[in-house]
Amino acid sequence: MTTSPDYAEKIPNNVDLRDDRRLQRALEAWQPNFLSWWESMGPTLPTQDVYLRTAVNVGREGWAHFGHVAMRDYRWGIFLAERNPDRRIGFGEHKGEPPWQQVPGEYRSELRRLIVIQGDTEPASVEQQRNLGATAPSLYDLRNLFQVNVEEGRHLWAMVYLLQAHFGRDGREEAEELLHRNSGSQDAPRILGAFNEETPDWLSFFMFTYFTDRDGKYQLGTLKESAFDPLSRTCEFMLKEEAHHMFVGTTGVDRVVERTAQLMVEHDSDEVAARGGIPLDVIQKYLNFHYSVSLDLFGGDTSTNVANYYTAGLKGRWLEDRRRDDHKLTSESIMVDALDDGQVGQTEVAALVGLNTDLRREYIADCQSGVKRWNRILSGAGLEPRLKLPHVAFNRKVGAFAGVEATPDGRLLTAGEWERRQGEWLPTDVDKTHVRSLMQPVHERGKIAAWIAPPRNGINGKPFDYDYVHLA
Ligand SMILES: [Fe+2]
Ligand SMILES: [Fe+2]
Repeated sequence: MTTSPDYAEKIPNNVDLRDDRRLQRALEAWQPNFLSWWESMGPTLPTQDVYLRTAVNVGREGWAHFGHVAMRDYRWGIFLAERNPDRRIGFGEHKGEPPWQQVPGEYRSELRRLIVIQGDTEPASVEQQRNLGATAPSLYDLRNLFQVNVEEGRHLWAMVYLLQAHFGRDGREEAEELLHRNSGSQDAPRILGAFNEETPDWLSFFMFTYFTDRDGKYQLGTLKESAFDPLSRTCEFMLKEEAHHMFVGTTGVDRVVERTAQLMVEHDSDEVAARGGIPLDVIQKYLNFHYSVSLDLFGGDTSTNVANYYTAGLKGRWLEDRRRDDHKLTSESIMVDALDDGQVGQTEVAALVGLNTDLRREYIADCQSGVKRWNRILSGAGLEPRLKLPHVAFNRKVGAFAGVEATPDGRLLTAGEWERRQGEWLPTDVDKTHVRSLMQPVHERGKIAAWIAPPRNGINGKPFDYDYVHLA
């Protein structure tokens, strides 16, 4: 049963926090540390208030409330999707058994690790995006940035709740570490590579929310299947918020492509840089970069750890219940990427050890749909649809192709050729400087920067020229 959230408490929640004094005190002790992290590592642009969505419930009849709030007073709460009393474990050796409400001792360290890795990405992205407010192309975009930021903050809360509620002292220590590590830090960096890259401009932000947040969506999708029911329910609710982050990325890139296409048609030329736009080939380079670093987030093409997680019931597949197999995979196989005699190829492995590949492929198919819609925008403007996803071997640092260099078409290159030519496919200093030169803030109500088209609609039925943000 889910109880209705208690707003009177310091921490809005639907987990009956008031009945667990020990946990309540642990979270209340962590809260000021979270707030000082938010003040020192969160958004740098001073604001009075922002029109934000706040999660207030999990039910179907509306789970969010919209209104202007000072970000520091945002009510980061703890919400788990409703418990399904009929739920059964859907895969692995415990398939068919009731899910676990407590952490089984034998899986304790693996579960803690999975939660910490997921938890680490949430505040990392806030840190990566902290300076973007100063160059927002409109108040609408500024508001969306802050919405993503506060929700990533809430996702950190979600993971910290699990750590503190179910992992005792180790969990409390991990909760502190999540605030201690910082994106790009020399001494204590974030755990995963892509989360230590900077997000220096808004094209990067849109690509990040499209490609890297989407990795998050797929990871959450596998954890939503977990036999550990509180983790499953937490992730299910996070996925609901994540949909808006995907929307920000998808429509953000849409609007950049749309504006570029307009300029190309207007001037009958690809050279839109001098006209204040972002050239299509620069958009392609940013896409190449963000897509390839996001592919790395799925880990090695084969992994015995992940096979063990699956068999134990800790982490399932994307849409596990739609798969038509035995959900144990003990006798199945899968083709995974591999170097074959030094050439890009594939090799057959047991399905269980190829689960990272399975997830990466689901993700790639999803990314393909973004490219399709951006090409449709080009076709709609009468232009050649020419954006594409680079080959899986391109610019990889993890997996079978980490040791080789390849073109976006998947042709192998010598190290020297790669050195000479990578600027054709990845953003160069010149490209980045140009993009950054366009990042002049437009903080005036109803106005928008010249390098991006306005959105079709505003937020929550409000018009584009609504006062989404009041600057300080
Ligand atoms: Fe998140
Ligand atoms: Fe997100």
